[in-house]
Amino acid sequence: MTTTHDPLDISVDISTQEIILAASNHNIPLLRRLFRDNQTPIANPANVKDTDTGFTPLHAAIAACEVDKDTDAAANGVQVNGTEHAAAEEKAQDEGVETVKFLLHEGAIWNDLDLAGETPGCLARRLGLMELYDLMVDAGVRAELLLGRLDGYEALEDEEDEDEEEEGEKEGEVESEETADVDAEIVDAPELVTTTTTTISTDAPTTTTSNTDVTNPRYLDSTLTFQHDRLLDADQNGVMMAWESTIMKKSAQKLLPTPGLRVLNIGHGMGIVDTFLQELSPSEHHIVEAHAEVVAEMKRKGWADKPGVVIHEGRWQDILPGLVGEGVMLDAIYYDTFAESYADFRDFFSEHVIGLLEQEGRWSFFNGMGADRQISYDVYQKVVEMDLFEAGFEVEWEEFEVPKLDGEWDGVRRPYWSIEKYRLPVCKYMD
Ligand SMILES: C[S@@+](CC[C@H](N)C(=O)[O-])C[C@H]1O[C@@H](n2cnc3c(N)ncnc32)[C@H](O)[C@@H]1O
Repeated sequence: MTTTHDPLDISVDISTQEIILAASNHNIPLLRRLFRDNQTPIANPANVKDTDTGFTPLHAAIAACEVDKDTDAAANGVQVNGTEHAAAEEKAQDEGVETVKFLLHEGAIWNDLDLAGETPGCLARRLGLMELYDLMVDAGVRAELLLGRLDGYEALEDEEDEDEEEEGEKEGEVESEETADVDAEIVDAPELVTTTTTTISTDAPTTTTSNTDVTNPRYLDSTLTFQHDRLLDADQNGVMMAWESTIMKKSAQKLLPTPGLRVLNIGHGMGIVDTFLQELSPSEHHIVEAHAEVVAEMKRKGWADKPGVVIHEGRWQDILPGLVGEGVMLDAIYYDTFAESYADFRDFFSEHVIGLLEQEGRWSFFNGMGADRQISYDVYQKVVEMDLFEAGFEVEWEEFEVPKLDGEWDGVRRPYWSIEKYRLPVCKYMD
């Protein structure tokens, strides 16, 4: 039997190999020629993929910055001393930096995954190439900010479609290939979000395949399972887990440094942060909770009778304007919801905090955005910092280790935390 090859496929394959090779040789003039080559039948040459490794040109350019001492020595037939090796490494990195900048400028996607599941930034970090890692983080921030702006722009243009958007259907309207990959991240960020590549979420789960199935309305309609160490939704997504207790304790302590303060917590979950807040003797303790089963459980546990506690049943989006209308003023606010988008979160701090928080007050949030991958966590820290700044807040971060998580994820649909350190934010009005 004879096999026929489509000549177009072969030439695409050759072009891909040429581009990947030029990227790993840090050969910018050749890359430029290949990208401009009208004969190269590739629509988006900066984002080709090697079929064996899944490497994009960015992966290839970064991987080539790792200078192996032994290979180096064998190739040159000489003993390479430490100084020579360091010089070779520095040279490779400098060239790598220029190549990566060039590729990003040509529209390379910052967070495409190779077959080992690494983004170019993950690869740089694993190889200890921190200048390249920082470049990739900055590229991620730019892409996410751009999408954030596009998101706002679309909402303004298309107000009639707001309901549809609430159903999590905002994405898909951004057309460029670069933005397509990160689209879901910016749109769906805070609580649980999925993307085609990396995941940005503040707390909980996503599936690796689809993000449309875990929306806030769907979650609020779902039946919950309360266990001693976790709260799960109907799809076994971890809504809240006991391993977060240290985070909740430190957050409560930051928010209520002295007794007698007025606090609002949005999202009761397992009641962990509310328990710590109660221990710090607030004079008023407002709790907003939207899920009927969580509300029933908190009432069963006697939360309605605790000192200073007022339970507000419903979504914060519906409750907060009423509190502002009643003139409620607070010294501290904590935000930790589930299955909400980054746009919701941004709306919360841009539009609602100002009406409720005293001038000297402070607020915090569960910072789990992108916590299943270090680079996503770093990107989102910068994005949120910029958005907070724009909304008039300054933020201080305290970093500490989270416990090692192994068995915790048994029976949970998706581990939503895989990084070593938590960064706890405390936000205040800018001077
Ligand atoms: C991650 S849990 C909070 C965990 C809590 N910090 C603790 O220490 O146990 C999120 C909670 O937010 C609630 N929630 C989700 N969307 C909400 C919304 N729009 N308004 C108010 N509560 C919401 C969920 O029902 C859930 O109880």
